[in-house]
Order: sequence, then structure tokens, then C-alpha cells
Amino acid sequence: MRHSLIKGSLWLALGSLVFVGCEDDGDDDPAGFIADASSFDGYRSWTQVDYTIDASNGLGGAHMGNQADFHRRIFAYGNPSAQNGEYPEGTILVKETFNHDASGSMQYADQGGLLAMVKRGAGFNPGAGDWEWFMLSNDASEIMVRGGAEVMDGACNSCHSAATTYDGLDHVFKHPSESVVELSGILADYSSWAVVDEVTGDHDFLNAAHGGADATRKVFKNTLHADPNPAGSSGDMWPTGTVFVKEVWQDGVLNDARTAMVKRGGSFDPAGDGWEYFMFSGDGTVLAQGGSETSCAGCHSHANSSEGYGRDWVFHHASDPMNQP
Ligand code: HEC
Ligand code: HEC
Repeated sequence: MRHSLIKGSLWLALGSLVFVGCEDDGDDDPAGFIADASSFDGYRSWTQVDYTIDASNGLGGAHMGNQADFHRRIFAYGNPSAQNGEYPEGTILVKETFNHDASGSMQYADQGGLLAMVKRGAGFNPGAGDWEWFMLSNDASEIMVRGGAEVMDGACNSCHSAATTYDGLDHVFKHPSESVVELSGILADYSSWAVVDEVTGDHDFLNAAHGGADATRKVFKNTLHADPNPAGSSGDMWPTGTVFVKEVWQDGVLNDARTAMVKRGGSFDPAGDGWEYFMFSGDGTVLAQGGSETSCAGCHSHANSSEGYGRDWVFHHASDPMNQP
């Protein structure tokens, strides 16, 4: 059914040829763009517009946003851009919400694991930009629920109407999302996170950093199964909101200076793939902070899969199921 877009522009072209000077808004189909199950075929090869584990504003409990282990990935067909504040008819956005079982396999949320919104147009859902809402089977082969204002008793409509409040546009939230983390929150929480490494000894890229080879380095990760390579991804990229904290112990004593890496995402430092580096003391004082211009990034740039030392600026860790040596 995507083809009706092409059909639409063909009609437009023909229309302007035949009726020179005639106004044609291209809206030749009175029912608008009607998606069917095949409209969602191969959505993982579309443009990935977001990948996050951050509990973004406005999400509340929707899309498992209040559960730290859930990942949300959003794909757009043809990377549509809004014009005059509106997405064009035929725009399709698909959203996956998943976490991982104990063995690390991806599993979709029981409710709304795979959702979509399609710009149907033609006055279909006048209260909410003529978007049509979809709940799909996890393999995207079947449409379970579709409709306008009535879907989820109006919840899709009303919550997505708030998108503009959060810098979104036309009922679509802002992408890619940004995770601006309070250091005080990290400091209060990190000791309860998963420990993905506790290592003493040398490393090809350690030199004198992090206390050097004699120190014990202990690495904490906020979401154990945060995954730089989820199914269907092309290339390493940790989800926005992933945080690593590192402690250095010397002769059994914890160094007051800790370091952290936060996948901040959004428009933050694209040259460094959105990573923010911190050095901070136990009382929360920031000692250093920045992106790809820091000496931290210079060394961490070796942590990638082509050099074989890690993934997306993060070195391998023995107990990280998603980033093994
Ligand atoms: C309580 C608020 C809320 C409700 C209810 C809600 N959503 Fe969302 N939705 C969001 C937020 C916030 C985002 C974007 C951010 C994220 O996931 O991090 C989003 C994102 C999406 C996206 C990706 C495009 C975009 O706007 O970012 C789709 C598709 C989507 N939701 C479909 C649905 C459908 C279908 C329903 C109803 C079955 C629904 N949503 C109900 C809050 C909501
Ligand atoms: C000379 C190289 C080097 C420099 C400079 C460096 N690091 Fe690291 N960093 C490493 C290595 C190597 C590891 C992997 C574990 C280990 O053996 O300690 C690591 C691990 C980490 C980790 C755990 C997650 C990961 O990527 O493995 C964090 C967080 C971290 N460093 C933060 C920083 C910050 C912040 C700075 C700057 C203030 C910095 N690092 C500077 C080499 C470096």
C-alpha cells in the first residue's frame, strides 16, 4: 500500500500535465493512505530515528518507559521530514519496545511490543493530525488493532498530542532523544548497578590511566543488557541512556575520583557519537566533563569492533554479556 504514495504523485504529475493551471492538492484518494500488514515489511532496514533506554519526559509508564531494562527503538519509512509543522501523508513510524531474558535474548513487551503510527490523512483522525494508530504482532506480520481516537480509549491520541510540549512535532516526539543525567543521581545509584568488570593488571590501552596496571578497576553498568548490537542493527551503538561508572582501588582503598561515560545522544557531540565523559569526586564535585575533545575520548576511541577492543567507545568487559572480549 506504500505504492499509493507513488500513485499519488503520479496522479499529481499527470494532473498538472493535463489540467495546466489547475490546483491539485494531490488528495485523490478520499480515504487517505491506508496501510496494510505489508506496509511494515522490513521496517528494520528503514531509517532508525531513535534507540534509547532513557525514561524520557512525557512517557510516564507508557511504552515501559519507567522500567530501566526496556529498550525503545524507532524506525521511519523513508526518513520523512515535516513541512509546515506536519508530516506528509504516508509517513510510517514503527516502534519496538523490548527487554532481555536472563540468557540475554531479546523479548518484546507483553503490551505494545510493536506499535506504529501512520499518517493516513483525509480527515481520518481530526483530533490528532489524521494519524492512524497500530498495534502489530511482534513479527510485524499482522495488524492486531488499528484506528483513530478510539484506540486505547483515546490514550494514543491524547498522550501523543503532548509531543509538542516536549519539542516534538505533529504528535511525534523528538528524535533522537537526549539523556541528560544528573551526576548526583548517578552517585546515589551506581553502587547497586551490575558489576561488569573487576580487573587488575595491564591492558593494551591503559598506560597510566585509571590508576594503571597495579590498580583494581571496577566497572558498573546501569542496565546489564543494554546492547550495542540488537537484532537488525547495522553497526555498534549503545542506546541513549546507557551509563558506565568506573572505580579505581589502590591497596584496598577507593580513589575518591570516579569516572563515568554517559550515552547522552540527541544532538550532543556527534563527533564522539554522543558520549559524555565525567570525572567526579565522591561528594559529587565535577572534576572534568566533556565529549570527543577530552583526553578520555582520545584513548577510548580504540574501543571499537574494527580494532577488536570494544564497542562504540566502550572497552570489552569480562562480565558484560553484550560486550565480551
Ligand atoms: C502516556 C503517553 C503515551 C501513550 C499513551 C502512547 N504513547 Fe507512543 N510514545 C510516547 C512517547 C513519550 C514516545 C517517544 C519517546 C520514547 O519512546 O522514548 C512515543 C513514541 C511512539 C512512537 C514513535 C514515534 C513518536 O511519536 O515518537 C509510536 C509509533 C508510538 N509511540 C505509538 C503509540 C501507539 C500506537 C499508542 C497507543 C496504542 C501510543 N503510542 C500510546 C508516549 C505515549
Ligand atoms: C590511556 C587510555 C585511557 C584514558 C586516557 C582513559 N581511559 Fe577510561 N578506560 C581505559 C581502559 C583500557 C578501560 C578498560 C578497563 C580497564 O582495563 O581498566 C577503560 C574503562 C573506562 C570506563 C568503563 C567503561 C569502558 O569504556 O570500558 C569508564 C567509565 C572510563 N574508562 C572513563 C574514562 C574517563 C571519564 C576518562 C577521562 C577522564 C578516561 N576513561 C580516560 C583507558 C583509558
